[in-house]
Amino acid sequence: MNSSLRAAFRAAFHRDPHGVWASPGRVNLIGEHVDYAGGLCLPLALPHCTVVAAASRDDGKLRLRSWHRDAQPWDGAIDTVGPGHPPGWAAYPAGVMWALGAPAGGLDLLVGESVPPGAGLASSAALECAVSLAVDALCGLGLAATTAGRAQLAAACRRAENEVVGAPTGGMDQLASLCCIPEHALLLDCRDHTMRHLPLNLRAAGLNLLVADTGAPHRIVDGEYAERRRSAELAAAALGVPNLREAASHRIAELTDPVLRRRARHVVSEITRVQAVVALLEAGRIGDIGPLLNASHASLRDDLEVSSPELDDVVDAACAAGALGARMTGGGFGGSALILVEQRATPTVARAVGAHRCFTVL
Ligand code: GLA
Repeated sequence: MNSSLRAAFRAAFHRDPHGVWASPGRVNLIGEHVDYAGGLCLPLALPHCTVVAAASRDDGKLRLRSWHRDAQPWDGAIDTVGPGHPPGWAAYPAGVMWALGAPAGGLDLLVGESVPPGAGLASSAALECAVSLAVDALCGLGLAATTAGRAQLAAACRRAENEVVGAPTGGMDQLASLCCIPEHALLLDCRDHTMRHLPLNLRAAGLNLLVADTGAPHRIVDGEYAERRRSAELAAAALGVPNLREAASHRIAELTDPVLRRRARHVVSEITRVQAVVALLEAGRIGDIGPLLNASHASLRDDLEVSSPELDDVVDAACAAGALGARMTGGGFGGSALILVEQRATPTVARAVGAHRCFTVL
């Protein structure tokens, strides 16, 4: 793989790359649409990575290429990069250079194999994070060597997405991509920015975690995600708290607007569900988290209204076929569902949701 990417880099830029870097996508076990409200989330890394080959330049230019059919090449000066520019996919890698303060004098970059885009599996973050690792190495920043440094890289990637791309995402995906370790979920506390790795011994428990892509593209730059985030901010302001993490559940009833009330109820109840899942994981009872996954999906579907008919169908089909629990994962409005299933029931459940679009994460 690396050798074909290196060869493609040579063909595109008539020089050798200085290296190849990769960063994974994620699924979120639970804690959805709470990162931007100071909540708790529990993502884990996917086996799928986005891979980039890169070489530095010293003339202030960026040349960006991708293997992907729809991704137009982009050449431009680093000092033209900023909010809203460049347009399209180039905003992600260019935005990362911008957010890191353009420490390199320029960059040639080719994106190779990647996390499936539009599947709600954090393909944008995987691209940003792979670019940040390339810049870190090429410029000798040394940030990738420590957890604190990786959190700094993740913050820069999030700024690129929020300010240059213009997607108001919450930061879970970038931290997951840069800080997850194998066979563990990452407990992220988005209030105090602490992280903890929790072992996920699925195989020992006779379980599988599946991801099923509905094939219905998920879109995060359009207005719905931003609207949910805005509702969380409005609800917090109405309750006089800095964010919904600080809102006690009994206070949600004080919100007079029914839509705001439902959306706030999702955030507050989801944070409680994350705490319950963490307690079960710590007690070695991962097989018992299924009902909490189902409750999370119901809340995302009914209270936050970010599911889709395709996601509901996959979740219902999985549960009807004997899954222990299932829920949509990621931003919603399409994308993927995750399914917790006993190993012996895996073939039946995978068949029920359409095995061709289903893969095992753990
Ligand atoms: C997207 C965003 C994240 C998070 C999830 C929902 O993946 O990038 O910040 O808000 O949606 O949990």
